[in-house]
Amino acid sequence: MDFFDLIDKRRSVRKFSNESIPEEVITKALEAAVLAANSSNLQPWEFYWVKSRNKKDDLIKACFSQNAAKTAQELIVAVSRIDTWRRNRNLILKHYKEKGELLPIVEKYYNKVVPLAYAHDRIGILGLLRKIISFFISFIGLFKPVARGPIFRHDVFEIVTKTTALACQNFMMALVAQGYDSCPMEGFDHTRVKKILKLSSKSHVVMVLGVGKADPKGIYGERFRIDEDLVIKII
Ligand SMILES: Cc1cc2nc3c(=O)[nH]c(=O)nc-3n(C[C@H](O)[C@H](O)[C@H](O)COP(=O)(O)O)c2cc1C
Repeated sequence: MDFFDLIDKRRSVRKFSNESIPEEVITKALEAAVLAANSSNLQPWEFYWVKSRNKKDDLIKACFSQNAAKTAQELIVAVSRIDTWRRNRNLILKHYKEKGELLPIVEKYYNKVVPLAYAHDRIGILGLLRKIISFFISFIGLFKPVARGPIFRHDVFEIVTKTTALACQNFMMALVAQGYDSCPMEGFDHTRVKKILKLSSKSHVVMVLGVGKADPKGIYGERFRIDEDLVIKII
């Protein structure tokens, strides 16, 4: 299928048919998901493919039993994490070292710049320190561009969540390419979902994705997009 046909074909499906999905389809879509562009290549995502019947039932309830979850053949939870950067940074450095391709600038970036952005503590002392430093930096910013963040934990959450959402789009598109459908959901009780997945406070549930084959009545209406003039600005 042409790329633009795929884009057009992806719809949020609220009712899935009883047809089951071959495991390979989900696996392939997850492999496509993790190829997404991501900040500093730190790949801060996790995808939980919930197969246990009990957990699935709990997850459906946590999604307020909405149809897209209830009728989904498979449920995947996309999670972003602010604490995997150190492990992933080490894996990146090890990879380039082993290949003999570790440039000093790359090593410096991952060992100096990345910790400055990602390191945080429970109480937020590092965030406060960064805020004080950024206050002084903003004076320099009057004369030239300066790095103004991330400062607080929620800024790091924004980075990792942005990146994880891109992976979700890859996942959904990969399903369409294989003839299957999905529905991204943020209508869920995040505390309950975190409990089901046993996630810590360093994780954020980005989306729950219901997957299956669309029921003939699974798409609730024609697609509507607001006028492009309102959202696409040429300056
Ligand atoms: C982050 C996000 C959260 C969403 N949450 C829900 C949801 O909880 N339930 C639902 O039925 N649809 C949900 N949707 C689907 C949107 O309603 C849908 O994408 C939008 O109406 C556009 O329709 P389309 O996806 O068919 O183009 C969500 C979509 C996104 C991207």
